[in-house]
Amino acid sequence: MKKIGIIGCGRQAPKHIKGYLENGITDIFVSDILNDKAQDIATEFGIKCMDIDELISSREIVSYSVCTPPNTHDEIIEKLILNNKNFLCEKPISLSIDSLNRFIKMTKRNHTIAMGGYIYKFSPAYKNLRKLIHQKKELSINNAYLRVASPGSDSPWQYSKLDGGGVINELVVHMIDLVQWCFGPIKEIKFIKKDIYLPNRKTKFDNIKIDAEDYIFIKLMTEGNINIDIEADLISKEFVQFLEINNKSFYTFCSIQPNLPLWINNKMDNNKVIKYFDFQNLYISQIKYFLDCVDRKIPHSISTLEESTSICNIIDQLKEN
Ligand SMILES: NC(=O)c1ccc[n+]([C@@H]2O[C@H](COP(=O)([O-])OP(=O)(O)OC[C@H]3O[C@@H](n4cnc5c(N)ncnc54)[C@H](O)[C@@H]3O)[C@@H](O)[C@H]2O)c1
Repeated sequence: MKKIGIIGCGRQAPKHIKGYLENGITDIFVSDILNDKAQDIATEFGIKCMDIDELISSREIVSYSVCTPPNTHDEIIEKLILNNKNFLCEKPISLSIDSLNRFIKMTKRNHTIAMGGYIYKFSPAYKNLRKLIHQKKELSINNAYLRVASPGSDSPWQYSKLDGGGVINELVVHMIDLVQWCFGPIKEIKFIKKDIYLPNRKTKFDNIKIDAEDYIFIKLMTEGNINIDIEADLISKEFVQFLEINNKSFYTFCSIQPNLPLWINNKMDNNKVIKYFDFQNLYISQIKYFLDCVDRKIPHSISTLEESTSICNIIDQLKEN
């Protein structure tokens, strides 16, 4: 029976654990820098808890999920690759292009799978929309608007630049990934407006230093000359996400939220679709894909380190300007 290691036991870890359990894997080992957190989650799911170094060097475990804050990923990934392990790492895999390029070389040498946690690409609504865009080149799309909003979490790192927090790392990375997946590579950033709307945020923790932006509006251009607007914030009370294309002959509205429909109005062939997709835990299909890649049932082409390098390049420019 396959054994899995989970590193980091905060908000994301239960989603990964449920994803492995639903794929029939029950031998799951968790670890956290705070042992109590690992212990609590182990008790909740009836799984086992381990020291991090012991977990990474275990001979019996070959695949891992990394669910720690972004600025801790590099050190953990380095150890995983040096131990010949496969991993699914939450986004953004790394905040450094140099590290990503080094990881690409290392994983090529030891033939391990390194995958990023870009969950939108496993949403049935987005998969349908992308298929339509790629099949019907005559749609000649020239613009798209992407919106994502979230209340943020209570973890102090989410609001600190140094710790890899802020709206760019937390939400915009997903939108950049989605844009490149649906519309092709981004060639230019045309406009950026960033702000901190909640400098005195009330969380469970006192005295957190807020220096990472919680709002951003960006205008981009793809290599295929599609104008893209992205608006993202960490200040809304509820999670909201959608993509809207409003062209002369083609309108679409698409969201990762199952309570919002995929709405397509293709005036060219008089085709109107309003479709709701049943709720699915997207981590089940993301983890199935990861495990199938590890087992060499399919080649690894989704959320690769190369894709993360291209996301990181855009993100660096957004942070600099
Ligand atoms: N895919 C998505 O939709 C999505 C959503 C939210 C967060 N994320 C990403 O998931 C990752 C984790 O986010 P979260 O919200 O679960 O954070 P969190 O703060 O809730 O949990 C992080 C956990 O990691 C532990 N930790 C910190 N440093 C560690 C280390 N060096 N070794 C082991 N454990 C360590 C912390 O103690 C904490 O328990 C981040 O990269 C974040 O960007 C992805």
